[in-house]
Amino acid sequence: MRKTCLLTLLMASAILTGAPARAEAPTIVAACKACHAEDGSGVGIHFVPVITGIPAAHIEEALYAYKDGARQCVTEPAMCQTVALLTDEDIADLAELYSQLERPSLNEPYDESLVGRGEQLHNTHCARCHVPPDEPDVADALGYPLHGQHPVYLRYALQAYRDGTREHLLEQMKEKMDLLEDSDVEALVNYYASY
Ligand code: HEC
Ligand code: HEC
Repeated sequence: MRKTCLLTLLMASAILTGAPARAEAPTIVAACKACHAEDGSGVGIHFVPVITGIPAAHIEEALYAYKDGARQCVTEPAMCQTVALLTDEDIADLAELYSQLERPSLNEPYDESLVGRGEQLHNTHCARCHVPPDEPDVADALGYPLHGQHPVYLRYALQAYRDGTREHLLEQMKEKMDLLEDSDVEALVNYYASY
């Protein structure tokens, strides 16, 4: 095992046990934490997504999408610049690390009156692929958990698919997105925030 890989694993156990970060932790994890926070929730920076409670394979999928340009970092170019430095091994280690951390409840404010409609839209169009992070079959789902994600980030991501700055990796999701009106997006965002 290469030294950097071992250090990443040591870093992972430090996060999981709440032990103080080791001085020799790889710089790249420190960069992730600067934006996504120690616990991966990005609390306080609402356009930065929560990256915990996501199965490792999906975290890898997202990181490769940023690396190869299918996803562009419109709000924060430094995210894509950081990911560009990652090796395949780094990506696998980081995905494993963050997949093991639970998604905290963010208690973000949401509009209660939109939740019912959002839930209805989710069940009709999205639930087949996007299941909550605590579902037992979450790792087998085609999409990854949206429940408990920052509303500001979700609104941005949905808009990015709609205006084409983010490529769809799956045609079936594009077909569903094409059915949504602006008001549907708002209802969905508020429903996911109510989790
Ligand atoms: C400068 C701040 C910044 C840094 C550094 C950063 N990120 Fe991000 N990250 C973001 C932002 C902002 C987004 C949303 C980007 C977009 O889609 O435009 C994001 C998106 C993500 C996503 C996608 C989550 C999802 O729900 O689709 C993952 C996974 C991720 N980051 C992991 C990492 C890892 C691992 C590192 C360290 C190697 C890292 N980030 C470094 C700010 C940052
Ligand atoms: C056939 C499966 C499928 C369906 C149906 C689907 N999605 Fe997805 N979704 C995916 C996959 C796979 C990804 C990750 C790859 C990508 O970016 O295209 C994704 C990514 C996303 C993301 C980005 C998440 C993030 O953290 O960056 C959002 C937001 C999203 N979907 C919302 C929706 C909504 C809302 C619906 C219903 C209107 C929906 N999806 C329907 C499979 C699906």
